[in-house]
Amino acid sequence: MSSTSMQLVTFDRYGPPEVLSVTTGPVPRPRPGEVLVRVRAVSVNGGELAMRAGRLRPFTGNRFPKRVGIDLVGEVAEPGGSRFAAGDLVWGLTGRRMGSAAQYVAVRADRLDHVPAGLDAVRAAALPAGTTAITALRDKAALAPGERLLVRGASGGVGHVAVQLGKAMGAHVTALAGAANLDLVKELGADEAIDYRAPGRLGRYDVVLDTVGSDLPAFHRLLTPRGRMVAIAFDLDRPARSLGFIAAHAARRRRWVRFFSGNPTTPLFAELGRWVTAGAIRPQVDRVFPLSEVAAAHRTLEQGGVRGKIVIEFP
Ligand SMILES: NC(=O)c1ccc[n+]([C@@H]2O[C@H](COP(=O)([O-])OP(=O)(O)OC[C@H]3O[C@@H](n4cnc5c(N)ncnc54)[C@H](OP(=O)(O)O)[C@@H]3O)[C@@H](O)[C@H]2O)c1
Repeated sequence: MSSTSMQLVTFDRYGPPEVLSVTTGPVPRPRPGEVLVRVRAVSVNGGELAMRAGRLRPFTGNRFPKRVGIDLVGEVAEPGGSRFAAGDLVWGLTGRRMGSAAQYVAVRADRLDHVPAGLDAVRAAALPAGTTAITALRDKAALAPGERLLVRGASGGVGHVAVQLGKAMGAHVTALAGAANLDLVKELGADEAIDYRAPGRLGRYDVVLDTVGSDLPAFHRLLTPRGRMVAIAFDLDRPARSLGFIAAHAARRRRWVRFFSGNPTTPLFAELGRWVTAGAIRPQVDRVFPLSEVAAAHRTLEQGGVRGKIVIEFP
């Protein structure tokens, strides 16, 4: 491989993890305002599985090849006049365009920040999804100390940060997770940990953060009169009904439901870094796969039961 070519993950049709392949392509040329990053680690996000399987086809279309990878941790290769220096360890997101699962990516400088001191690339790669948790709990729900928070999907990529953030913001946190991961969400700080397959009678909550998307009305009914629901996923089996429910409740003054699509920029990563430096948010890496085993990484997340994040490490 020459220095102008690189390895990247692509797929030519929607389907199971095996559609993913590691191919060779040109190293991107950064445009003005962009930084060239040599990627050290990326994580696998729940949304990528749905995209790869074709379950988001109405949004992602039928043009191939497509790429995967949303977040990244890497070293600055070409700072491009930004505030970064060559060799700096940075984290960020590629934006709405996927493709961070590649040896090099060109990313807008305002979507990157320095990784907090003391965090290595693999552990850092477990955390960028935490920017979604910050937007949900701080900006959308305005979670207040003493409020009762319910996190659905609490052991997942977004959920495991949301549990820790909720505690750090002073809330009483109830975590819904699989039975095998109740110990994990307790360790992360949840006051109560409940098996989502046998939840029994749940309580009432001021804020529900839903990272699952199914059964939104049932969880909405758990809201207190001043309650707020933030959904970051919708029901892929019944998209129209699910999105319709969100839309019908979005403009309400009380017991509203908000959905957003995260598009974090540097200040949000800086906020994430402050929580990490303060010791309030810790990364949770379940397993690390080499780039060559990207299909196995997707398969593992798809099989469920993952504790935190699956990370792909680059050579
Ligand atoms: N809107 C946005 O900006 C935004 C940003 C990030 C992610 N997302 C979306 O949020 C969703 C979660 O993403 P992620 O990366 O956190 O995924 P993830 O790491 O796969 O986590 C999903 C979690 O949900 C749990 N789960 C599955 N079914 C459940 C149920 N019925 N009740 C409670 N928990 C359940 C899973 O537990 P088990 O594996 O143990 O079953 C898993 O821990 C995806 O749909 C993704 O597209 C949206």
